[in-house]
Amino acid sequence: MTNFDAFLSCAGETMQESAIRRMGSMLADSRDLVSFAPGYPAEAAFVWDDLRAIADDVLSSRRESVLQYGATRGYRPLLESITRIMAERGISAPLEQLVVTNGSQQGLDLTARVLLDRGDVVLVELPTYSGAISAFRGVGAELVGVRQDADGCDLNELDTALVRLRAEGRRVKFFYTVPNFQNPTGLLVGLDKRQRLLEWAERRDVLVVEDDPYRDVYFTDVTKEADTRALAADDTSGRVIYMSSFSKTLVPGLRVGWLSAAPELVGRFELAKQATDLCSGALGQQIVNEACRRGVLARQLPRLRALYQEKRDVMVDALSRACGDALTWDIPRGGFFLWARLRGPIDGDALLPRALARGVIYVAGSAFFVSGAERQFIRLSFSSPPADQIHEGVRRLAGALSDARKAASAPAAAPAAR
Ligand SMILES: Cc1ncc(COP(=O)(O)O)c(C=O)c1O
Repeated sequence: MTNFDAFLSCAGETMQESAIRRMGSMLADSRDLVSFAPGYPAEAAFVWDDLRAIADDVLSSRRESVLQYGATRGYRPLLESITRIMAERGISAPLEQLVVTNGSQQGLDLTARVLLDRGDVVLVELPTYSGAISAFRGVGAELVGVRQDADGCDLNELDTALVRLRAEGRRVKFFYTVPNFQNPTGLLVGLDKRQRLLEWAERRDVLVVEDDPYRDVYFTDVTKEADTRALAADDTSGRVIYMSSFSKTLVPGLRVGWLSAAPELVGRFELAKQATDLCSGALGQQIVNEACRRGVLARQLPRLRALYQEKRDVMVDALSRACGDALTWDIPRGGFFLWARLRGPIDGDALLPRALARGVIYVAGSAFFVSGAERQFIRLSFSSPPADQIHEGVRRLAGALSDARKAASAPAAAPAAR
């Protein structure tokens, strides 16, 4: 038998399956499971008819470019559409600053390849997106987490960490942030904090990686322009690498996202992408571009906001009724996630088998922490299940919480019963 371990690279050896993907495969295995685990868009939001008509037109055109290899940077008309989307977000991103990616996950992977060496440090929000943890750790970087307040990360702690790391001779390359409706916490970074973060990065000469897939999924108490303003919109020195995606707004299955960076850097991203996949799929890019050009995306956005806000309300209402004594949470003002803290001694990882036995899954909060064993949180995604499933899932979760509480009190109860 071949010993394949001897052939593995350090990266190949240490790779770990994401907790979220693992939950996704459990879902595939079981029909009667309510899933609050992966941050999937609602199937009900898929614009089947528009995409079918567009795909039909695009393929009927028989233009070679539809099925041929394309430019590594991306399909030019799509890049032009992205430039317009960026302008709506207040960000100037001419074509020479853009690369189309296979979702923003590829943006994270390219960032890791282009900027990080083994032993380099990335500062991240605590907790942070697990896909970013995998991408950055995959190249041997060390992640240092900074605690978040209600309006985003603690700037004093951020600066203290940076100064300490530099004094130790460590190279801190960038600060990674998801400022709009963060995965996993749903947190919206305050406008003032965004300004101060950018000033801090400038003063300390650190790059910022801004990951912004949920920006358009805001709810009614958010004022779009003010509250979700990108750090990249106020960046005058090319310090911010910005990435976003059509996954949460159009469909994730086409795998189309983008990355914007200073012209001096973007050529490096292009070369890294070339080595990875030569180019993103032409058909998917052309379909996404037509969806932008024909107004499909623009018509879709208000519907999505209403749909996800309603789902959030259903989840918050159901949790308040069934789990209010066992969980606490802040109400997310956008995005796909509700981040709940378990009251008392219950641990999010230990609760999972009980939840599974009851027929509901979530992601244990520990998957999103890069330091400290924070086990009292769970991430509940309300984006994908329909309202009746959200009700049922919360009912099952309440059952699992009650099982856990009974089990926790059992040893104390045992002597009295003797
Ligand atoms: C914060 C964040 N970044 C990036 C991604 C990756 O999205 P995609 O590659 O589908 O664009 C996700 C997906 O859940 C996410 O939540």
